[in-house]
Amino acid sequence: MPRRLLALLSLLALFWVTPAFAAQPPDVQTAWQLLDYMAVDYGGAVGNGKVVSASEYAEMREFSGAVSEKLAALPAKPAKTKLVAQGDALRALIDRKAAPDQVAAAARKLGADLLAAYPVPLGPRKAPDLARGAALFQQDCASCHGATGHADTPMARQLDPPPIAFADR
Ligand code: HEC
Repeated sequence: MPRRLLALLSLLALFWVTPAFAAQPPDVQTAWQLLDYMAVDYGGAVGNGKVVSASEYAEMREFSGAVSEKLAALPAKPAKTKLVAQGDALRALIDRKAAPDQVAAAARKLGADLLAAYPVPLGPRKAPDLARGAALFQQDCASCHGATGHADTPMARQLDPPPIAFADR
């Protein structure tokens, strides 16, 4: 689902540039976010043991592979072996098109166990600076979403799908 993926990628981008997160292993956050995304979206890929969206299913397989790679790359700790095994088990569930609630439960459990073993902050430590946010919006987002959020820019008119108009309630 491109829209959710885009939101996810912008989140990741934000986390990567925030100094508070720079000291943390980015793989843990990325793996957790992929797992969260899989827990929510797998239901759009598989139903009744059958693929209902080939592109979503391909994405789920790709993400579960990425999670396994990131788990394998974690610094050694006693908990790591079990996490890697859970990652393999999750991939096996997806490969055999298991039920969405089963996959969601396994993804959430793995995400929680990952954070327990390799703690990282998942939210900002302090309230966001709105003035800086406004400046960043003008710098990085306004070309498509519009200076006032109406998504009425020349760039916006060229895009399909069009950018979201934030001003449209
Ligand atoms: C190059 C053009 C472009 C720029 C620059 C851009 N966006 Fe977007 N944005 C889009 C398009 C196109 C969509 C709609 C994607 C879709 O419908 O799949 C979108 C959608 C969104 C959404 C809606 C996601 C959802 O799930 O509905 C949010 C939020 C968003 N953008 C935030 C931002 C932010 C924040 C920035 C700046 C950091 C930004 N965008 C910069 C083109 C852009």
